[in-house]
Amino acid sequence: MDIFEKIAKHMGPIGQHHKWSHGYFSFPKLEGDIAPHMNFRGKEHLVWSLNNYLGLANHPEVRAADEKGAADFGMAYPMGARMMSGNSKYHEQLEQELAAFVGKPDAFLLNYGYQGMVSIIDSLVDRNDVIVYDAESHACIIDGLRLHMGKRFVYKHNDIESARKQLERATKLVEQSGGGILVITEGVFGMSGAQGKLKELVELKKEFNFRLLIDDAHGFGTMGPTGAGTHEEQGCIDGVDVYFGTFAKSMAGIGAFVASTEEMTNFFRYNMRSQTFAKALPMPMVIGLLKRLELLKNNPELRERLWTIATTLQKGLKERGFDLGVTNTMVTPVFLKGELLEATALTMDLRENYGIFCSIVVYPVIPKGLIELRLIPTAVHTLEDVQRTLDAFSEVSDKLKNGYYKENQFAIS
Ligand SMILES: Cc1ncc(COP(=O)(O)O)c(C=O)c1O
Repeated sequence: MDIFEKIAKHMGPIGQHHKWSHGYFSFPKLEGDIAPHMNFRGKEHLVWSLNNYLGLANHPEVRAADEKGAADFGMAYPMGARMMSGNSKYHEQLEQELAAFVGKPDAFLLNYGYQGMVSIIDSLVDRNDVIVYDAESHACIIDGLRLHMGKRFVYKHNDIESARKQLERATKLVEQSGGGILVITEGVFGMSGAQGKLKELVELKKEFNFRLLIDDAHGFGTMGPTGAGTHEEQGCIDGVDVYFGTFAKSMAGIGAFVASTEEMTNFFRYNMRSQTFAKALPMPMVIGLLKRLELLKNNPELRERLWTIATTLQKGLKERGFDLGVTNTMVTPVFLKGELLEATALTMDLRENYGIFCSIVVYPVIPKGLIELRLIPTAVHTLEDVQRTLDAFSEVSDKLKNGYYKENQFAIS
């Protein structure tokens, strides 16, 4: 079998739809300034799919800092990996400020969240160690597990009894192998909006010997009294041994960081292959991130605004009978009953006739027969945006229940 022939027969779970979905459902082009109102295929849309939680992407001070960083240093600077030739005082300043903000002694910058997480896991464990992880973990955690040469045990999503059982199994194993146990979960699960049960996991340390790594991609900047993250929200900052956050969401940038004890952070500095053998974060991004962090820390009203939008949206949807699953964060999933064709027709109706752009999730990511519309509120949405969305959702949900989308398919022109 020729590899190209094999691939031509099966383009993968999402790729198989590319002929009709490309440019509309997948790889859509949202144009104009990053904001709640952007252009999609030449028409203005109210957009609910950007993780620009605090609205920093287009904040004038952020834009000015990004521009100045680019003007002063250019995109090439610094050249090389941090360890070899790509370090700078700004990279180190950002690390110190991040560490202090998330309540850890030290932090290390990562070029990308995804590969950073893979590499954190890879560097922490060897074949004698056992990883215990949540069943709904993000793809980057799963890829990190793929590199692990030892055993891994999955526990049912957010199920502490199941986690306990897997910790019992893991404990027996490491007693023989002489290894240790690493538990991995997320601070906020980005699809469902559920918080990981960090506090309960930390409590399990009284019964078992393990270290806890959390991926707080969505929680950093949004959760907790100061926005430090989900560990702050749940009052267990010290119980989280390794904290990971990305800049791709509330910070509206790119890159990520890992924070831990001084010794562990130094270990990451010298042992994470994705950082040792890759070029450092570009200086304009680092300069821009320093500004973003300053704004995030000093403007709690941004987070308050995000929560006003999120709670008004969620309250309104619930009052109208919508099923929002188990979310207890700003991530707002709306679950509807319907098949794939109905889901695509409904999404197109929302876009074409109501001018509302949101992401849609279907089988195999969620069970067959369910449609998830995923809404991401931000600090720059308005209450009028919320009202317009509530009205549109009521109408499309009625149409779905009446079988309208079974009979009315829309063609992408
Ligand atoms: C939970 C989680 N972890 C990691 C990542 C990857 O982060 P980045 O976009 O910075 O590579 C994401 C982004 O989608 C995420 O949602």
